[in-house]
Amino acid sequence: MIAARNSRCTHPYAGRVSNPRDQALQLLRRFAAATNLLVAGRTFALHGIADDVNAQLERAFLALGARRWLGSGSLDYLFCTGDAPADFGPWLTGGPRPLVVVGDMPDGGVQARPGVRLIIVDGYDVAVVSSSVTEPPVPSATDGADRIRWARRFMPVSRALSQELAALGPFIQGVRVGISMVLEPKTAVLALLLAEAGAETIVFAHPDETDNAVADALRAEGLVVFADSSATRAEHRAYALDFLDSELDLLLDDGSALIRLAHLERPEAVERLRGAAEETTSGLRPLRTMHEQGSLRLPVVAVNDARSKTQFDNLYGTGQSCVFAILDLLERSGHNDSLIGKSVVIAGFGPVGEGVARHCAALGARVTIAETDAVRALRATFEGYEVAQLITAVASADLVISATGIADTISLTTLLACAPEAVIAVAGGVPQEIAIDDAVAAGAIRETLAPKLERFHLPGGGTVRILDDGGCINITAGEGNPIEIMDLSFAVQLAAVRTLLEREWSVGLHPLPADVDNRVAAAALGATTIDTVTDSQREFLADWYPTRFDRPATEGTPTE
Ligand SMILES: NC(=O)c1ccc[n+]([C@@H]2O[C@H](COP(=O)([O-])OP(=O)(O)OC[C@H]3O[C@@H](n4cnc5c(N)ncnc54)[C@H](O)[C@@H]3O)[C@@H](O)[C@H]2O)c1
Repeated sequence: MIAARNSRCTHPYAGRVSNPRDQALQLLRRFAAATNLLVAGRTFALHGIADDVNAQLERAFLALGARRWLGSGSLDYLFCTGDAPADFGPWLTGGPRPLVVVGDMPDGGVQARPGVRLIIVDGYDVAVVSSSVTEPPVPSATDGADRIRWARRFMPVSRALSQELAALGPFIQGVRVGISMVLEPKTAVLALLLAEAGAETIVFAHPDETDNAVADALRAEGLVVFADSSATRAEHRAYALDFLDSELDLLLDDGSALIRLAHLERPEAVERLRGAAEETTSGLRPLRTMHEQGSLRLPVVAVNDARSKTQFDNLYGTGQSCVFAILDLLERSGHNDSLIGKSVVIAGFGPVGEGVARHCAALGARVTIAETDAVRALRATFEGYEVAQLITAVASADLVISATGIADTISLTTLLACAPEAVIAVAGGVPQEIAIDDAVAAGAIRETLAPKLERFHLPGGGTVRILDDGGCINITAGEGNPIEIMDLSFAVQLAAVRTLLEREWSVGLHPLPADVDNRVAAAALGATTIDTVTDSQREFLADWYPTRFDRPATEGTPTE
C-alpha cells in the first residue's frame, strides 16, 4: 500500500526555484510529462498541509481548466503535496482509478510507463507518479507496448466507438484502412482498435514523426508499418508509395500529404479508395483548393472541422502540450523556464493560437496576439489580450510562438526585429513556419546550445533562440497532444470511418454530419446526462411565423 510508507512528499524543485508558483507549475508539468495526460476538464484533489506551493498548485489547476473534486463522482488526480495520507479510502471510493502523485515512488507494483507505476491499493488499480523525480522520464527502445497500454487506459471514447464499428460486422471485416499520422502510442491505439473491430490496418509515418519503439510494438501485433525514424528521404518516399500501393479502402490522413501524393502519383489508389478523412487544419487547406478546382477525386470527411475535434484538440490539447513542451525543453537545457511576468507573442488566434494563449496566460505570461483576420483579432481583445502587429510586438517579446500553420509567418524580417535572445517556437507545424532557410541564406550562423535548442546569430548582430529547428514543438520535442484529447480526436476518426462505410458519399470535401459529431461528444460525456429538446421546444424551433402578430384563423375556427 502506498499509505504504508506515509512519506513526507517533497517538491521536486524545492531547491531549484525559490518561487512557490514556479515550483507548483513545474510540479504540474512534471506530472504531465510523466503521464501525457490532460489537465483541462479533469478533477483534482490536493492532500496535505496548505502551504504556499499547495495554494499555487490549486490556482494553476483551476487556471488550466481543471475542477476541484467535491467528494463524489470520479476523481482523476490526487496530488499529495504534504504527508501521504494514512488511508486512501475517501479518494478511492469516489471513482475507480485516480492517479496519485506522491513524494517517493512506493515499492512494488509494475511499471506502467517510464515514471509511472501501477499499484494495488485497497483492491483498486492505482497509478502512481513520483513528485521527487527531477528529470523527465525517458522512453526506451523497448517500452512501446507499455506506453500503448497506458494510452489505451485513458481512451474510453475511442474504445466505445470502435465497438460500434465492430458491431457493423461484414461492413468492416477485411476493410483495408491506411493510417498516415504521427506514429506514437495514441495513434497505435487507434490502429489496434481498428484492427480489433475487424479492419486490416496499415500504418505509415514520416521519419521525424516515428517512434520506433511504437512501430515495433505494432509490428509485433501483426500490423504492417511503413515507418522508420532513420529512413532517408528516398526511403521515406518509397514507404509512402508502398503504403499507397497497399490496396487501401479508406485513408485516415494527417496533413493530407498522402491524399495529395495519391492524386499525383497513384491514380489507381485514388480510384480504389472509398473515402478518406483528414485530421488537421493545415491538411484541409489544400484539399479545399482541390475541391474548389474540381481536382479532388474521392470523398473526404473533414474530421478537423468536427466540433468535438477542433474545440478540444486544437484548443485545449495543443495549448497544454505546446506550452509545456516549450518550457520543458528550456528547463532541460538549463534555460529559464518560467513564464511569470514574461511577454509572449502569439501569431494566429485560431483555435490553436487561442489555446496556446490561454495556457501562457494561466502560467503567468502577458500575452499579445498578432492576427491577419480582423474578427479573430477583435475576439482576442475580448479575451483580454493585447493585439499588435507581429513586427512591433516581437521587439519586446521573451517568447514568440507561431500558431498559424502558414509558411513564413516568422519571416526573416520578423526574426531581425525580435528582442535579443527571444525564444521562438512553432505550434502550427508546417515547414518553414519560421523562415530558417531564408535566415541561413542571409548569413545567419547557427550555434547549438543544447539538444533541440539553437542560437541564431543574425545578420546585423541580433540573436534569437529557435526551438527544435522550427518543428511542431509538441510533436518533435514532446509526446504530442495529451492522451484524453487524442481519445476524442480518434473517436471522431472512428466515427468518420463508420459513416464513410455506412452512407453514400459523393466526390469532394464533406463536413462530418452533425449527428455523428454529437454522438462522439455524447460518448465522451459518459455517465453525465444532458437535457433533451422537448416537443414544444421542437415545435417552436420549426415554426417561422412572427410571434408578435396574430395568426390567421385556421379553417373551422370562428373569427370575430
Ligand atoms: N501542434 C499540434 O498538435 C496541432 C494540433 C492541431 C492543429 N495544428 C495546426 O496548427 C495550425 C493552426 O490551427 P488552427 O486550427 O488554429 O488554424 P486556423 O486556420 O483556424 O487559425 C490560424 C490563424 O492564423 C491567422 N494567421 C494566418 N497567417 C498569419 C500571420 N502571418 N500572422 C498572424 N496571423 C496569421 C489566421 O488568420 C487564422 O486566424 C494549423 O496548421 C493546424 O494544422 C497543430
